[in-house]
Amino acid sequence: MKDKDEEFLVVRDLYAGYGDAKVLHGVSLTVARGEVCAILGPNGAGKTTLLRALCGMVKGRGVIRLDGADLVGRSPDTVARLGVAHVPEGRGTFMPLTVEENLRLGAFTRRDRKAVEEDLERVYGYFPVLKQRLKQAAGSLSGGEQQMVALGRALMLRPRVLLLDEPSLGLAPLVTRELFGIVQAINEQERTTVVVVEQNAHLALGIARHAHVLETGRIVLSGTAADIRADEQVAQSYLGYRV
Ligand SMILES: Nc1ncnc2c1ncn2[C@@H]1O[C@H](COP(=O)(O)OP(=O)(O)OP(=O)(O)O)[C@@H](O)[C@H]1O
Ligand SMILES: [Mg+2]
Repeated sequence: MKDKDEEFLVVRDLYAGYGDAKVLHGVSLTVARGEVCAILGPNGAGKTTLLRALCGMVKGRGVIRLDGADLVGRSPDTVARLGVAHVPEGRGTFMPLTVEENLRLGAFTRRDRKAVEEDLERVYGYFPVLKQRLKQAAGSLSGGEQQMVALGRALMLRPRVLLLDEPSLGLAPLVTRELFGIVQAINEQERTTVVVVEQNAHLALGIARHAHVLETGRIVLSGTAADIRADEQVAQSYLGYRV
């Protein structure tokens, strides 16, 4: 059982891109069940493309396996049904819809109505502010609240893996810290495996067990969050200081 948990999400020799634009050149990484894994790297490295490949939005070649199930070549819908929830860059919130409608959309794969109602309450537990804004159009919320809607919608899938693309984008530091605290609480309480792409390496390394640095479509460094934080090159390139 232990090995199976260590190899919960396996990516091996993954190639992906957009037509002639090849972006990922043989990416390999493994994420253990229940851990938070951070993906760091400069703009244009392919971080977003990696998450899109993991959720089936971009076709990949190679191996993507979740708990033994092969994900390569599957549609986004099928991947979602297998338990992978994606919170895209820019959040993918439906602005004209209300908060509640956005959250219910996250449960589109589910038939267990009673459990869906319970999960709505669970989401409000993590994000009490959303309960006060239920009938409000998502487009009228603050950036931080919209990110909460996006996260809440992903939770409504009861995901086994949560893919987060730059959750801090455009948010004030205080709001970002609060969001990361909630992501950590979700990881601990729901045992949800999290893969987070983040420009703010400090924050991501603060909640991650392992991290990988992606550069021009290749993993150039992998290790525990502590190792990555201690790496001088990473510190200079991504953490903004010399060690
Ligand atoms: N839809 C697309 N069609 C063609 N090329 C794309 C598309 N989306 C991204 N790319 C290209 O793929 C490369 C990797 O982009 P990607 O968005 O994955 O990088 P990223 O690491 O997420 O960058 P950022 O930190 O700026 O978000 C870039 O060169 C980008 O121009
Ligand atoms: Mg990106």
